[in-house]
Amino acid sequence: MGESIHVPLAALFPGASFSGASAKGNAPASSLGGLRGGRTFYIETFGCQMNEHDSEKVAGVLLRRGYRQVASPDEAGLVFYNTCSIREKAAQKVFSRLGEFNPKNNSGRDSGKVIGVLGCVAQQEGEQIFERAPWVSLVCGSASYRKLPLLLARLEAGERRVTGLETDTDETFETELTRRDHPFRAYLTIIEGCDKACSYCVVPYTRGPERSRASDSILREVRELAEVGYTEIQLLGQTVNSYRDPSNRHLTFSELLLAVAEIPGIRRVRFLTSHPRDLGGDIVAAIDASPALCDHVHLPVQAGSTRVLRAMQRTYTREEYLEKIGLIRRARRPISITTDIIVGFPGESEQDFEETLSLLEAAQFDGAFSFQYSPRPHTPAAVMADPVPESEKLRRLQALQERQRAIQLRRNQGLVGEVFEVLVEGASRRETQWTGRTSSNRVLNFTSSRTDLLGEYLRVRVTGAGPNSLTGEESIE
Ligand code: SAH
Ligand code: SF4
Ligand code: F3S
Repeated sequence: MGESIHVPLAALFPGASFSGASAKGNAPASSLGGLRGGRTFYIETFGCQMNEHDSEKVAGVLLRRGYRQVASPDEAGLVFYNTCSIREKAAQKVFSRLGEFNPKNNSGRDSGKVIGVLGCVAQQEGEQIFERAPWVSLVCGSASYRKLPLLLARLEAGERRVTGLETDTDETFETELTRRDHPFRAYLTIIEGCDKACSYCVVPYTRGPERSRASDSILREVRELAEVGYTEIQLLGQTVNSYRDPSNRHLTFSELLLAVAEIPGIRRVRFLTSHPRDLGGDIVAAIDASPALCDHVHLPVQAGSTRVLRAMQRTYTREEYLEKIGLIRRARRPISITTDIIVGFPGESEQDFEETLSLLEAAQFDGAFSFQYSPRPHTPAAVMADPVPESEKLRRLQALQERQRAIQLRRNQGLVGEVFEVLVEGASRRETQWTGRTSSNRVLNFTSSRTDLLGEYLRVRVTGAGPNSLTGEESIE
């Protein structure tokens, strides 16, 4: 593959705002005017960071072919939705977007556009998308993105419908041009797909088998990113720590982390998501050894009861998970731990749920994303008997969130008075108010009398704490 080029969105759209994770549509907020139709594209992304990064690569592929990115579907000749199917609600979103283009609908958007569905709903629904929305022209899952230039060429040559739906590929999606959304944080997928078989999860079906990217190629891209000014690297994978270097260097995941962290100019390295089964002491030792490796591990537990974990096919027990937590807590640096939890898995009893609540106390997570179980097509859990009523699932979710909120508040309050380095990510409306993130991934809103702080690393003293963020002031020592 040729040399790769990294274009931050800022270079394409001066004036675009970068307020961090809230920007879901990849098009910039600024209005661009521009021609209707023609070789212009719009892309909107749903789902996880891997999807966001795939959209950055798809945008690069399109730019290379002479397309120009625009800020709204109305201005675009080519409209792409990069979709998520992890829960029913996420999957529904794309069909409501597609409905806006229904030619039968008077308030529908202009026809004559090429509409494409990418990502996990594309892979899951396949050609059925053409039945539900016949005005769609392209359906392509992430394991087939290498074929995108070819599919686009076929559309340009006049074909009406094209698909890329294979998953039995050993290729990863690498492009010559990646148009990145963020000016100082760069995502980099190091392992695609998933070989775990959690019984509730669509990802193994929508993203195909695990394929790791060669370490040389990863390190080359990080060096290039550092050269053009990126300081934070986020290594991505559904099970990022299951990374297996396919090259003959055979770097382990922790060796790869250390090699990325050593690259001059790189100040922060994050990685997500880690699977508990593959979290070993070598990863904790690497974080201890290298200040550039962020002191944060995202380690989804999913449930606190071994019985439910077994039904979920998570491959560890409650006790084994807590041993991993102990391993991380024994590190020399304090490492923050966040998690994902599902409530209301089929057959989850009150006793099982109580075990999830008690696990929260035992693990003392610094953050948790929690979800009501949502049955997904083709998954083994979808056909399991489920006597737990929806109202009870909601009650459990709320009880869990309340308990976790109290834990986070207590933990954050313990940080008042400490000084942390933050990477400044945004400014608030008040001129002296900034927001940044600590290495432990906490949001820290702080005051500084200085201007032009975006992308800077500063030391900030914590003066206050809430459950989801800290407040502070720049520390001039
Ligand atoms: N690869 C990661 C997580 C991927 S999806 C891992 O293995 O942990 C992100 C989160 O969505 C999961 O951790 C899980 O908590 C949640 N999730 C996945 N499938 C779900 C479903 N069917 N219903 C509800 N939540 C689900
Ligand atoms: Fe889904 Fe499990 Fe794979 Fe995570 S590890 S993506 S939850 S199958
Ligand atoms: Fe969603 Fe697919 Fe990511 S289902 S969470 S976009 S891997």
